Amino acid sequence: MSTVIQGARPYGEGDPVDVLIEDGVITAIGTVEVPEDAEVIDAGGQVLLPGFVDLHTHLREPGREDTETIATGSAAAALGGYTAVFAMANTDPVADNAVVVDHVWRRGQEAGLVDVHPVGAVTVGLKGEKLAELGTMANSQARVTVFSDDGLCVADPLLMRRALEYSTALDVVIAQHAEEPRLTVGAQAHEGERAARLGYTGWPAAAEESIVARDCLLALHANARLHVCHVSTSGTADVLRWAKDRGTKVSAEVTPHHLLLTDERLATYDPVNKVNPPLRTESDAEKLRAALADGTIDCVATDHAPHAVQDKDTEWTAARPGMLGLQTALSIVTETMVRTGLLDWRGVARVMSERPAEIGNLAGQGRPIAVGEPANLTLVDPDAEWTVRGVELASIAANTPYEGMRLPGVVTATLLRGRTTARDGKIC
Ligand code: DOR
Repeated sequence: MSTVIQGARPYGEGDPVDVLIEDGVITAIGTVEVPEDAEVIDAGGQVLLPGFVDLHTHLREPGREDTETIATGSAAAALGGYTAVFAMANTDPVADNAVVVDHVWRRGQEAGLVDVHPVGAVTVGLKGEKLAELGTMANSQARVTVFSDDGLCVADPLLMRRALEYSTALDVVIAQHAEEPRLTVGAQAHEGERAARLGYTGWPAAAEESIVARDCLLALHANARLHVCHVSTSGTADVLRWAKDRGTKVSAEVTPHHLLLTDERLATYDPVNKVNPPLRTESDAEKLRAALADGTIDCVATDHAPHAVQDKDTEWTAARPGMLGLQTALSIVTETMVRTGLLDWRGVARVMSERPAEIGNLAGQGRPIAVGEPANLTLVDPDAEWTVRGVELASIAANTPYEGMRLPGVVTATLLRGRTTARDGKIC
């Protein structure tokens, strides 16, 4: 099976070239003669990037298939330009054992649109009391490389220390949802003037920053790898800078929504804007964009969090936190990072593909666009725009905070090991 992408600009650089893909591998780049029976994708000078990798996705299966399944989430991922996603462990049952992670992995294989890598829970049942069997999950068929209790913080410092120590022997990474729970009891929104005016209990920046500082020290002393989920405050970026300067093996992600949206959205009273960690201030968003550009924050991760209408279309305090992200991530990164000149397309490849693949230890993803490399590729039209409509997204849930917004940057094709999984907004 062969495919030719005609007239693409790898990393948005140089003159357009043709890319020949045979049996899932890039076999020629330049001027390519089209083999008989080859699928031809006319790129018309569009930007060719390595397939995106999302370290942080909620696919909701098993347990909440009314909001997303591994198949629908995989479709959303492929349409968003992703070739690999990590599915968070806060399912029902929790992915805290080899049976559940292998089930998720197999369902991803069956869907066949994107590599679905299950994240294993750090603690049994996400209860924060007892370590889950990390080794069994790491050695299972799913080969779990990332562990997280995301949605909840591993708050007990002794447990976190043990998890970090244990992770070094397995060569896996612990991804922390940094939230000191004693500082966020009843918290509804970023602690500040806007939440105060509406009478919402505040979610202080220190609840995140104190855990990140603690965990960086634990990781440094254990010589372990720590990954910080969804960084939301400028203070966390400062802590990360400090920790990285001292040689801590810490990586971090920021979500598209924390790059673009702020707690100004509270004025809408619309719980589609409720998320954990909460939307912060414009100054935080600006410093997060700078931290992503300078590498303090390693990558973008969506925290794609589908929720049912009855869990979102309700009063703010009763609504669940979370928002869809897979199909809008590239556009938000284009808007906040590329159009502002903070990142070029090579930079986008770094933060949306290469770094997340390295952090998640995926051998075949985030690779250079070069002969001999697996053809996990995403084609992007940087000049096109589209209007977001929640009901038109591939997810079962429709809780997008970008409803009705016109956004730049359109994914026109996604290839998983040479097979076209999405093209012109349709699943193949
Ligand atoms: O907003 C969020 N939603 N943050 C999380 O950490 C969990 C997620 C979810 O599972 O809905």
